[in-house]
Amino acid sequence: MKITSKQLRKTWLDFYKERGHVDIGGVSLIGDGSTGVMFNVAGMQPLMPYLLGEKHPKGTRLCNVQGCVRTVDIDSVGDPTHFTFFEMMGNWSLGDYFKKEKTAWTFELLTKKFGLDQNEIWATVFEGNESAPRDNETAELLVGLGIDKNHIEYLDKSNNWWELEGTVGTPCGPDNEWFYPRHNKPCGKKCGPSCDCGRYVEIGNDVYMQYEKTANGYVPLKNKNVDTGFGFERLLMFLNGFIDGYKTDIFADVIALMEKNLGVNYGDDEKATKAMRIVADHIRTAVMLIGDVNGILPSNVGAGYILRRLIRRAVRYARDINLSLDSILEVAKIYIEKVYNDAYPLLVEKEEYILKELTIEMEKFNKALEEGRKEFEKTILGIEKHKQFAATKGEIVENIISGKAVFRLFDTFGFPFEITKELATERGYEVDEEGFKKAFEEHQEKSRSATSGTFKGGLADDSYETAKLHTATHLILAGLKKMFGEQVVQKGSNITPERLRFDFNLDHKMTAEELATLENFVNDAVKREIPVTMEELSLEDAKKSGAHGVFDSKYGEKVKVYVIGDVDRQICGGPHVNNTKDLHHVKIVKEESSSSGIRRIKAILD
Ligand code: ALA
Repeated sequence: MKITSKQLRKTWLDFYKERGHVDIGGVSLIGDGSTGVMFNVAGMQPLMPYLLGEKHPKGTRLCNVQGCVRTVDIDSVGDPTHFTFFEMMGNWSLGDYFKKEKTAWTFELLTKKFGLDQNEIWATVFEGNESAPRDNETAELLVGLGIDKNHIEYLDKSNNWWELEGTVGTPCGPDNEWFYPRHNKPCGKKCGPSCDCGRYVEIGNDVYMQYEKTANGYVPLKNKNVDTGFGFERLLMFLNGFIDGYKTDIFADVIALMEKNLGVNYGDDEKATKAMRIVADHIRTAVMLIGDVNGILPSNVGAGYILRRLIRRAVRYARDINLSLDSILEVAKIYIEKVYNDAYPLLVEKEEYILKELTIEMEKFNKALEEGRKEFEKTILGIEKHKQFAATKGEIVENIISGKAVFRLFDTFGFPFEITKELATERGYEVDEEGFKKAFEEHQEKSRSATSGTFKGGLADDSYETAKLHTATHLILAGLKKMFGEQVVQKGSNITPERLRFDFNLDHKMTAEELATLENFVNDAVKREIPVTMEELSLEDAKKSGAHGVFDSKYGEKVKVYVIGDVDRQICGGPHVNNTKDLHHVKIVKEESSSSGIRRIKAILD
């Protein structure tokens, strides 16, 4: 069937409103700090207290479409299916109806409203383990509705159990996932949702949240709740028969504008297509973050830094295909005025402000790029001259830009390391990455002794320092878990080039001995010079591999797991240094209370 984004949103909300649900609307995209994540990443995140038993002012049947931001996959954006902003269509029963109604409604929505063929629907349910029984009940209800019993798979906890990774005191439970084939060509194997041929697409899931995850296992909740999540972009793409999310009407006008301004058709040229997707995605997220009720602005730390990276990455790719800053602003306007004007009216109210802030950030970056580019050309010219001179003496000079030269571009002109590297590659040059890091270190030493202690560059100039401190936070958390148990999780972190601040749950003030033990643990890992590696895994495989992480749900395709040898495996977006030795020595300078039950550690590198 064909359906527009506005129709899909309305169909979802109307369907549940007709069944007694109250549309509670979405909340801010910016995390309130309580879960330790920067952004809202799932529809249920703001509803946790109510799933745990608190009374919700709007009743026991709720629904909404909630915006979410996930940036762990930022480097994958550019392919057809990754987005940093997405919406989750949700509905909830807070101790009200349970499996019977929920299975029937999802089935009705899929078959009657979306026109899916009931004979083609597949479902997966929980196979059971020591914490919770096999979900025969849901399977039987599905068969009763008319789903072929051979189309139901029982899968394990890594597939059919939903919880917030790395948290305790949060609601969770088995889930029922719904699948539909992308096409009607069987792959020849025993094909179903768990087949790796990719024919079956998960279109959404119903979680039966009836347990609380505690430090000592899963404890039944007083209420049996339902938490449903359907990915909006994914369903829209699927219902319209696309395998490229950027072909849906959410992006249609934005892509058409870029096609017109560039004179290139989307899909014809690989480089241009990738750049168009990056601009379309990143600018959408930037508009949402700046125009949010708790809107943020680009900066060098925390959520502001992510916003800066999004805008700058969009500009970089836009420049590559000669897409002007005015075109980028047009893209932003289309989202504000045409695509999200109904669902996010605040964007319209804040339009002038959003466009102004986008312009300021883009111009700042452009200026840095232009100056840096000129300097880059001068650097190359210098090497070429040197080469000619050397040739007269029969010597050969290699096409390598020294670490010092790369650092100068970075430090004095704010020219990002990756851009120097990209330009160098285009010109047949290599860059001395190790030398760059060394120059960075030396500079750092000097600036530490200088009174100001700050950099001049202004652009991502904290990245290497920040990366070091970021790796240090992983070591600290690993140490805390070792000392106090797995229930200790990150509750927040804030890293500047000078220091790290790390919040975690612990029921007491750490003693001097405990702090010394922790510091030793961390510095022992530094001394062992452990390589820090990154693996991209599906969320399920990441969990299976024993990785812990702040928060997750099932819509992200792949997650990054940063591995510090045998010390730590953590789902995380990076960046990190390549080896713990880069940290030299970590010093904990303070341990204090942050809020009730939450402690805060401050540390520096010395
Ligand atoms: N909480 C579930 C999800 O995010 C519904 O997929």
